[in-house]
Amino acid sequence: MIVSVVGARPQFIKAAVVSKALAQQGIAETIIHTGQHYDDKMSQIFWDELEIPAYSINLGIGSENHSLQTARMMEKIDEFLCSLQQKPKVVLVYGDTNSTLAASLVAAKLNLPIIHVEAGLRSFNREMPEEINRIVTDHLSSLLFCSSMESVEQLAKEGITSAVYNVGDVMMDAVRLFSAKAKEKINLKEVIDPEGEAYNIITIHRPSNTDNQNNLSQILDAIGTINATFIWPLHPRLAKRIKSMELPSNLLLKEPFSYLQMLSLIQHCDKVYTDSGGLQKEAYWMKKQCITLREETEWVETLHDNWNILAGSDKDKIIRASKVQAAINTWTPLYGDGFAGDKIAQIILQVYYP
Ligand code: UD1
Repeated sequence: MIVSVVGARPQFIKAAVVSKALAQQGIAETIIHTGQHYDDKMSQIFWDELEIPAYSINLGIGSENHSLQTARMMEKIDEFLCSLQQKPKVVLVYGDTNSTLAASLVAAKLNLPIIHVEAGLRSFNREMPEEINRIVTDHLSSLLFCSSMESVEQLAKEGITSAVYNVGDVMMDAVRLFSAKAKEKINLKEVIDPEGEAYNIITIHRPSNTDNQNNLSQILDAIGTINATFIWPLHPRLAKRIKSMELPSNLLLKEPFSYLQMLSLIQHCDKVYTDSGGLQKEAYWMKKQCITLREETEWVETLHDNWNILAGSDKDKIIRASKVQAAINTWTPLYGDGFAGDKIAQIILQVYYP
């Protein structure tokens, strides 16, 4: 039996792909939800909408400072794994959140092999909590699935060369699998008011932007000068922060969207402004230009021909980037063929169920 550990929004989307592929191969899986994301709109809606196999336990570890959050997760994950009658064959983790790190450390301490989906990514910025989580997880893992050759090469530079597979990106599978459902189920008029009008999407959730007043103000000032409507689904952390701020009138504040709503919104938007990792790729796959509100990106392949522009939180850079166009004729597929989940399940079958 495989035990997978998830906790944050993007991990639910990845699990929707991989858990289904594992089930198709007849591999038994137990899912642990750490509770890192707990609001219904950050968590439950994804389980319902994407029909992810039910989790066996929700550990209920909500928000805390990072060390405490990780430590509390570790304690509960350890307790749960040790309570299982059948010892898991392997522990599967996704991406780079504190839930990923906690699960990896516990698995390593229990001498359980670790599978890391989305291995080998680096921002080379150790101030990002995710960078630490990725590095530690990669170096503890026994089987590593990368989204691109760049990631495979990065792992090799760090001495990790065996059991590394470039399978493509599972989030591309999710776009492939759920786009039709989004078209069928989502009525944009019910999601945003000015249906028919052109709009951009903006999302901000990185601590470097949400917790730094100067950075946040620069981003919002830039948005205020751009002649377009911006749809802004608010991460709960930011919702609390901006209550006392004066906001530009072209920002349309929204609650967090579901995955299908988000797919539909990207499909119809003009451009995407974001500090999220996943959204940079989703914009690319849907042929929308992205302005990334960070100084660096792990998804360097998307930077070609201005498809993705790094603007940081610098007002002038954001305004300049908003005027640059990507050349549609230079778009080429990135990060695999949309069947990463199947490849992952097949390799797991060969390695752990020979
Ligand atoms: C986490 C991940 C990040 C990932 C993101 C996806 C880490 C270090 N970061 O960031 O890599 O890109 O998830 O969204 O693991 N909050 C709520 N309700 C919720 C969840 C969060 O109110 O359901 C608020 C709390 O104020 C909390 C803050 O958001 O303190 C931050 O949440 P947290 O889960 O710590 O990190 P994210 O910023 O969401």
